[in-house]
Order: sequence, then C-alpha cells, then structure tokens
Amino acid sequence: MELKIFNSYSSLSAAAAAMMIDCIKNNPDAVLCLATGDTPKLTYQLAIETIRKENIDISHCFFIGLDEWIGIPPENSGSCHYYLNQYFFTPAGIMPEQIHLFDALTKDETEECNNMNRIISTKGGIDFMLVGVGMNGHIGLNEPGASINALAHVAPLEEMTKTTGMKYFDEPVLIEKGITIGLKQVMEARTLVMMANGKKKSAIIKQSLENEISTGLPASLIRRHSNAFLM
Ligand code: F6R
Repeated sequence: MELKIFNSYSSLSAAAAAMMIDCIKNNPDAVLCLATGDTPKLTYQLAIETIRKENIDISHCFFIGLDEWIGIPPENSGSCHYYLNQYFFTPAGIMPEQIHLFDALTKDETEECNNMNRIISTKGGIDFMLVGVGMNGHIGLNEPGASINALAHVAPLEEMTKTTGMKYFDEPVLIEKGITIGLKQVMEARTLVMMANGKKKSAIIKQSLENEISTGLPASLIRRHSNAFLM
C-alpha cells in the first residue's frame, strides 16, 4: 500500500480521477467498482470532465456498484443507485448494459449476491476499485468483523453506519442492512484506491494505519494489498 497525502479535497479528487482515467486508458475493457458517498463526488466530476475533454472511449468499460442499502428503492435520492446514476453514469453517458448494481429490493438476497459474484468472476475480476472509509472503518458495507473471505453478502449495519447514513437521505428512512461486495473481492481488486477526506476521518485513518491489521477495522486491511493507495 502506498499512502498519498493531499492538502486539499480538490487535489485529492484530481489525483483519484487521474488514476481512474489512467486505468481506463491502459485497459479500455476495464471493470471498475465504484463507491458512493460524499468523498468521491468531485472525483467523478473531474473524471467526467477529462473523459469529455480528451474524448476518451469508455464504452467498453464495465461498472459495478460497491454496495447498496437493503430496502431502499433506486428512485430514492439517498440510494447508491440514484447517486451513481446522477453523479457518474448519466453525465458520463454510460449505457445500462455497462452497469451492474445490487437490487436493494430483491426478494432473494442470496441470489442477488450470487449474481454479483458471478458477474465479477465472468468479467475476470475487478481492475479498479474506488472506496471510501466509514466512520467505523468500514469498506463498502463490510462492517467491523466482516469476514476476509466474504464475497458479496448482506449484513446488518452498525448503529454508527445507520446514523451517519441518514446524511444521504432527504427524509428519515429505516436502514438496517447493507448489501455489499465482500472483503475478498476488495482485496482481489487489481488496483484499490481508498479515499478519506476531512478532519472527521483522521482518527479512523490513523487507527487503520497504526493498529494491528484486522477485520475488526476493515480499512486496516488495505495495508496488506500490494497495489493499493490510501489517499
Ligand atoms: C458508499 C460506501 C461507504 C462510504 C463510506 C464513506 O458506497 O461504500 O463505505 O464510502 O461510508 O462515506 P462518505 O464518503 O460519505 O464519508
């Protein structure tokens, strides 16, 4: 893992966007797995600007959504579905057949996870994964204690995630469970970029860098990844 420190949100975002673009330029068939949340918003905006300016062909890339809130419909502006469409897929002109997102309304959670796992393995794995860090150190919705061997799965959310998650919603909603790409898939991504921004994340990042590497603090696992960037 390489630690990269920036003195502003805009320079952090520009660097992350450049890495995303480099991945696509080097591999036009790349499979990218993208997080939602406040942190990567500007990264997506800057990536779109570069795609337009340099007329980069992204029509052969495939995009996977990292996670979703179980029970939240895609029309809800707090859903990951809505976010990725609004901030990246629609403005970047990405076609529906280039995208696979978890269905948060699925009646069969196991099949939903199996389907995601199948898609990831059929595509040959994830080339580029962009993740944020939760206030409790989660990656995607792999909460503290998630298994390192986990593939896509549904898991109960910690109180901190439920409370913090409310910032994404216009109206209060009940979020109890998340559906997420598993830590095994995170660790197998060929390039893993983890972004954190703002003072509120400093304590969890310090712990992730200094504490024992453990699934009790999922973000600490990045230190075991041979091609990862904590930014
Ligand atoms: C979102 C996700 C979450 C967030 C994390 C940080 O798809 O996977 O793990 O990345 O909770 O969220 P923000 O960026 O809003 O601080």
